[in-house]
Amino acid sequence: MKKLLISCAALFALVLTGACKNASAAPAEGDGNPVIEAIMNRRAIRAYKDTAVPRELLQQVAECGVWAPNAMNAQNWAVRIVDDAKYINDLSEIYKKANPRMVENDPNFKNMFRNAPAFIAVAAPENQFSAIDCGLLGENIMLAAYSLGLGTCCMAGPVMFMNTNPQAAPFLKKLDFPEGYRLLYVIGIGYPDESPEPRPRDLSKIKFVD
Ligand SMILES: Cc1cc2nc3c(=O)[nH]c(=O)nc-3n(C[C@H](O)[C@H](O)[C@H](O)COP(=O)(O)O)c2cc1C
Repeated sequence: MKKLLISCAALFALVLTGACKNASAAPAEGDGNPVIEAIMNRRAIRAYKDTAVPRELLQQVAECGVWAPNAMNAQNWAVRIVDDAKYINDLSEIYKKANPRMVENDPNFKNMFRNAPAFIAVAAPENQFSAIDCGLLGENIMLAAYSLGLGTCCMAGPVMFMNTNPQAAPFLKKLDFPEGYRLLYVIGIGYPDESPEPRPRDLSKIKFVD
C-alpha cells in the first residue's frame, strides 16, 4: 500500500512537471529572493496614480540603468528623464491629432506614454552592441523601479512617432541627445494604479543542449 502511494505521488509529480513545462505558469514568488521576486512579478503598467515621482528616485533608477553590463564598458547610451507635465501633455496633443483612432480606441488615454507622469528616454549611436547594451540598461531601470514600488512600461510606439513626426521634432531636440544618437525606446514610470495579470511566457523556448 505504501509503495502504491509513493508511486501515485511520483506519477502525480511527473504529470505536474510535464504540465508546467511549457506553460506560462503563474510566476514564482522568488522564495524570499528579492531579485527573482522582482523579475517574476514586474509587469508593464499602463495606469498610474496622479502622484509625482520624486526626482531622487528617478535619478536612482537611471543610475541603476547605467550600471548594466555593456560592451567594453563603452557606455554607448544617453539617458534622459522627463517629468515635466507640460512637455508630456503638449507632445501628447500632437500625438492625439496624428493618431485619432489610437486615442478613440483607448477610453483610458491620458497621455502617449501609457498615462505615466514621467518617462525615461534611451538613445544610442548605431553600432554592433548599442541595442544590446541599451536593452540591458532598460531592464535594470525597470527592476530597480519595481523594487522601489514604481511601475514602468517599456515602449517603442511613442518612439516611432517622435523620430518621424515633424511636429514632434522640437520635443526630440529638447532631449538633447549627442550627434548621431537615435532614440531607441522610452520607459513610462510612475506609481502604479493597476496590478495586471502576468502575460504568458513560452518556456519551450528554453532548451538544454546535451
Ligand atoms: C521593445 C519593447 C517595445 C514595447 N512597446 C510597447 C508599446 O509601444 N506600448 C505598450 O503599451 N507596451 C509596449 N511594450 C511592453 C510589452 O507589451 C510588454 O512588456 C509585454 O506585453 C509583456 O508584458 P509584461 O511586461 O507585463 O511582462 C514594449 C516592450 C518592449 C520590450
